[in-house]
Amino acid sequence: MSQPELAGTPVLILREGSSRSKGREAQHANIMASKIVAEAVKSSLGPKGMDKMLVDSFGDVTITSDGRTVLDEMDIQHPAAKMMVEVAKTQDNEVGDGTTTAVVVSGELLSKAEDLIDKNVHPTIIIDGYKKASEKALETLEKMAITVVPTDKKFLKKIAMTSMASKIVSENRDYLADIAVEAIISVAEKKGTEYKADLDDVKIQKKPGESISDTKLINGIVVDKEVVHSGMPKRVESAKIALLDTALEIEKTEFDAKVNIESPEQMEAFLKQEENMLKGMVDKIVKVGANVVVCQKGIDDLAQHFMSRKGILALRRAKKSDMEGLTKATGGEIVTNLDGITKKDLGYAAVVEERKIGDDKMTFIEGCKHPHSVTILIRGGTERIVDEAERSIHDALCVVRDVVEEPKIVAGGGAPELEMGRALKDYAETLPGREQLAVILFAEAMESVPATLAENAGLDPIDIISELRARHEKKQTWAGVDVFNGKVDDMRKQDVYEPLAVKKQIIKSATEAATMILKIDDIIAGGKAKMPPGPPPGGMGGMGGMGGMGGMGGMGGMPPG
Ligand SMILES: Nc1ncnc2c1ncn2[C@@H]1O[C@H](COP(=O)(O)OP(=O)(O)OP(=O)(O)O)[C@@H](O)[C@H]1O
Ligand SMILES: [Mg+2]
Repeated sequence: MSQPELAGTPVLILREGSSRSKGREAQHANIMASKIVAEAVKSSLGPKGMDKMLVDSFGDVTITSDGRTVLDEMDIQHPAAKMMVEVAKTQDNEVGDGTTTAVVVSGELLSKAEDLIDKNVHPTIIIDGYKKASEKALETLEKMAITVVPTDKKFLKKIAMTSMASKIVSENRDYLADIAVEAIISVAEKKGTEYKADLDDVKIQKKPGESISDTKLINGIVVDKEVVHSGMPKRVESAKIALLDTALEIEKTEFDAKVNIESPEQMEAFLKQEENMLKGMVDKIVKVGANVVVCQKGIDDLAQHFMSRKGILALRRAKKSDMEGLTKATGGEIVTNLDGITKKDLGYAAVVEERKIGDDKMTFIEGCKHPHSVTILIRGGTERIVDEAERSIHDALCVVRDVVEEPKIVAGGGAPELEMGRALKDYAETLPGREQLAVILFAEAMESVPATLAENAGLDPIDIISELRARHEKKQTWAGVDVFNGKVDDMRKQDVYEPLAVKKQIIKSATEAATMILKIDDIIAGGKAKMPPGPPPGGMGGMGGMGGMGGMGGMGGMPPG
């Protein structure tokens, strides 16, 4: 009222076309979107879960039950739903498994919160309750965890087997679990009293063909390249390897040049010159004592010929990632200028050998200087199977690494979730009114894990949950859902074990995402960006006849700065 001149004139703050929703409306929209995402992955949870077939805009098909992959491929637009995708990503990056569970749990936390919001409980109270509950849940997990010896292969294998139980490759999990365990044990390094295992030291090579049971662990690096020249040896022992990032070719000039040759002698001299240059390059390699060359660029036919005469085995056009793996494994340095090559740049491997894999030839570099480098060569009937096998082996490698680095495990099958639920309900009783409600809802959200496992196995979740509750009351901490026999059982008997790290991360990421979404009470979405300022559409055409008018119109109302 103090500014009567404004009366009747709307004050525009947002760009035209922007939308805004506030309060309950905003909360409901976000929760709804998140629930839909959780619902989408729910049916793939557990060994009896279903797989998803995803087709991208190019028509490429992916078949998977891996939570993160499903969400990645779904191309989600809604901002709150995108946060659920983030949950899966964080989970995957931190611990490598449990992505589906994390998303299901955060969906469940939000859906329960919605009921409370509808009953006029303020989101802040729910958020506080959830935070307290998550701390209590983590505490319960720590207390129930079983400590193991980090290099105890028996338990590591069980962990790997559990993570692969829910994958398409589960039939071969016995065999693949051994590979995953061996791989991580070979790259693990002891630091003080703890072990560290770097997943980058486990290289993955995929080659469709044969079957998953032909997947192998190689103690070294496999390069998907064959020996360049038929005259070269196919196997070199005590290999001294030159790693080159420079072409063994005569560089072509960038511009056209003309060389006038007037006599056969001149022609010969010209060719001789080229030959000498290539020979000079090879001589430098021979001089430092290399008997294997891995080149990231091309190798001229003539250079190949010279090398074969010297008994050198050479590979060309190796991938950058292979070169990096090789420097780490063989202890060699990548050389970009042959003039500077020294003995110290050479890497070492006990054997370099070309072998036939299916129809192709690959080169195996084994017994490297740095023993903490291995490769898993994944085989499988089709490309899709090989891809899914890679994702499953990735999960298995991650869980084994998790336990090697933090040697604590829990049994799975929903047992820890139910136990956390039980502890939370006891804890809730010590809290005042509304917070208590939030903690109870958190407990129920935990129970959604065994309930979903049961549901996906075609069992009645209500029956299973009530039996589980009764068993846990009787201190049977490890009672969980035996999805294969359709009953409640001690999960230790079933050898279903998971890393504590995975379970802890599930609680952390699910709580964080849910509370973050609950805290939002205002969604402001900018309108689609308009044409850049300047001549309006059609203005260009009008420029000629209308002088600057078109341009002026475009700038109207937008003072510079
Ligand atoms: N033999 C089994 N019996 C009962 N439950 C099992 C068994 N094997 C695995 N589980 C349970 O299945 C759940 C894991 O399922 P799944 O691997 O599909 O999802 P995730 O690990 O949450 O996500 P993702 O593997 O997609 O990252 C865990 O709760 C685990 O305890
Ligand atoms: Mg899993």
